[in-house]
Amino acid sequence: MKNILVTGGAGFIGSNFVRFVLKNTEYKVTNFDKLTYAGNLENLIEIESNPNYKFVKGDICDSAAVEKTMVQNDIDTIVNFAAESHVDRSILGSKDFIITNVLGTQTLLDVFKKLGGERFLQVSTDEVYGSLPEDMPELKFTEETPVTTNSPYSASKAGADLLCNAYYHTHGLPVLITRCSNNYGPYQFPEKLIPLMIVKAMNDEHLPVYGDGKNIRDWLYVDDHCSAILAVLERGNPGEVYNIGGNNEWFNIDIVKLILEKLGRSQELITYVKDRPGHDRRYAIDSAKITRELGWEPAYRFPEGIEHTIKWYQENEDWWRKVMSGEYEKYYKENYSSKETHH
Ligand code: NAD
Ligand code: TYD
Repeated sequence: MKNILVTGGAGFIGSNFVRFVLKNTEYKVTNFDKLTYAGNLENLIEIESNPNYKFVKGDICDSAAVEKTMVQNDIDTIVNFAAESHVDRSILGSKDFIITNVLGTQTLLDVFKKLGGERFLQVSTDEVYGSLPEDMPELKFTEETPVTTNSPYSASKAGADLLCNAYYHTHGLPVLITRCSNNYGPYQFPEKLIPLMIVKAMNDEHLPVYGDGKNIRDWLYVDDHCSAILAVLERGNPGEVYNIGGNNEWFNIDIVKLILEKLGRSQELITYVKDRPGHDRRYAIDSAKITRELGWEPAYRFPEGIEHTIKWYQENEDWWRKVMSGEYEKYYKENYSSKETHH
């Protein structure tokens, strides 16, 4: 493995992964990204002149462009981050999710099948396992948990996973799948819970909490996701799934309160709004397999990760003010205007 094609490398996790790989390995990275609203080359300014890095603007659904990029850069490995990634947007409209997440993955698999290669890693999500009951705290998602999806986003990610599995079994492609819990950290688009709440608090605006705020997510610092993906890429078994999680479950409301406290803002800013339709109650990952087989463990504890993340948003106000203008304003109005609010 020498030359990695990272798709979606201008997004949140992808850009952190590109930086992580260039810092910790000798691999060459070609970042292939369509630059949707979520893709931003400013995420990669520090490494844009690194000789081991190259950017190509392109769509993973465009097989000719993928093939040309793979051939020109002698690609032997694909890590597929490219996706529509926000559940609320998939509720407003799911077509782009099916196109990029399903058709895009199929396109990449076919080009990889044609050209050959050492590894194809599909970056998936714990959301393909559906929702856990809240009264059984000992229950977590394992790699054997059946795929049961509740949102158009998770359904599209599950579709891609099933295709990856089919290409492993039918065509013998060396495909690996990772399923990670919720990530947080620098460069996350402020439509997702943690960065949205940080910027709302910094602006002294209401913080919209869906439903009763008692949904549970298992939060992992983005660099820990990157180190896990690298471990699976280098030492994982093709045809297998690896769960990645932080053993770090939080009620949404407690995260929101913590952010307000850290930023010295009033808890009065919390506003309960109408719940997300089909809202999964609890996600929690059992990551025993990746720890046992590949020796991976998270390096960051939540208190330091959240501290670092809040500081990053404080120091990078220009970054988030810019990405939150234009297209984002339109989305925000559409998603939140229909949710009546109460304190
Ligand atoms: P993101 O929305 O921040 O970034 C997605 C990137 O993909 C953007 O740069 C975008 O321009 C690019 N992209 C979208 N459509 C494309 C297309 N057709 N062709 C090429 N590029 C395209 O997403 P993220 O939060 O960084 O998530 C990355 C991956 O990790 C996704 O596959 C997501 O399902 C998965 N994942 C995310 C989380 C999380 O908490 N954010 C957790 C587990 C798994
Ligand atoms: P999100 O960051 O969208 O991730 P996901 O739904 O993929 O896990 O949301 C995390 C949790 O926070 C989820 O339970 C929904 C909730 N949430 C809010 O309460 N308010 C918000 O404005 C957003 C965006 C999310």
